[in-house]
Amino acid sequence: MLKKLMKKLVGTKEVTTSKQSLAEIKQGPIPEHVAIIMDGNGRWAKQRGLPRTAGHQSGVESLKEIVECSAKIGIDYITAYTFSTENWKRPQKEVNFLMKLFQQVFEKELDRFNQQGVKVNIIGYKDRLPDSVRKMAEEVMEITADNQTITVNIALDYGGRAEIIEMAKGIAAKVKAEQLSLEEIDESQVAAELYTANQPDPALLIRPGGEERISNFLLWQIAYAELYFSQTCWPDFTAETFIEAIAEFQSRERRFGGLKKGRC
Ligand code: IPE
Ligand code: IPE
Ligand code: MG
Repeated sequence: MLKKLMKKLVGTKEVTTSKQSLAEIKQGPIPEHVAIIMDGNGRWAKQRGLPRTAGHQSGVESLKEIVECSAKIGIDYITAYTFSTENWKRPQKEVNFLMKLFQQVFEKELDRFNQQGVKVNIIGYKDRLPDSVRKMAEEVMEITADNQTITVNIALDYGGRAEIIEMAKGIAAKVKAEQLSLEEIDESQVAAELYTANQPDPALLIRPGGEERISNFLLWQIAYAELYFSQTCWPDFTAETFIEAIAEFQSRERRFGGLKKGRC
């Protein structure tokens, strides 16, 4: 109910959230890229006496709301952590449910992605996904490839360390083929071999669900991201909570190893 209400409100200009209005947020610096570790689905369900799967199902609605809100704010990239390389360790029933859910969401939301101008980019080890999920993932990427409002990277069977291994192999292959010399290897060459090639690094990383760790997400790319941890479980994360996170980001001073502005 509250989510639906917020969804309506966020569409109007004069809406004020509990702390910041959408219009106010737009006056400040908007992170070009926001990374989200969508955590706390299971606990959200448990608190309500529901199966963990209900938490995952509800988490999809949060992502839809946050993507819509991000497009309105002017964020260009969202990277959503939906399944890690470590999540295969979960009970087979939960893994099966999640795989089916990914396939259903890609299928069901395809029209919406196109209507909203969402380019979907699925990142991770695609070859370990069930065939049906992989095919649907490839189809969604192909069909949404020219959309321009916002790019949503769906990190699926994604691991930061796995990505770094793939990057190392890519660079080694170029060196072996004499397309690149050892001296030419620099940060831009590394970034170009990652799943996020040609995208800016996330300026803000949001982790709901109460845990304060990275869990193998975007290890290279978040070197200078502002970290925002929240107790709210992901299924309860609304546009309002998201705007609060952006407001917090806007209040931070990003120094990148330099000194505070105006200091001598
Ligand atoms: C995140 O929620 C979703 C996935 C990892 C797939 P969790 O399922 O980890 O929820 P908690 O952390 O157990 O509450
Ligand atoms: C991180 O959450 C992965 C995703 C949200 C997809 P986890 O629930 O798997 O992380 P840990 O196990 O608490 O570190
Ligand atoms: Mg978790």
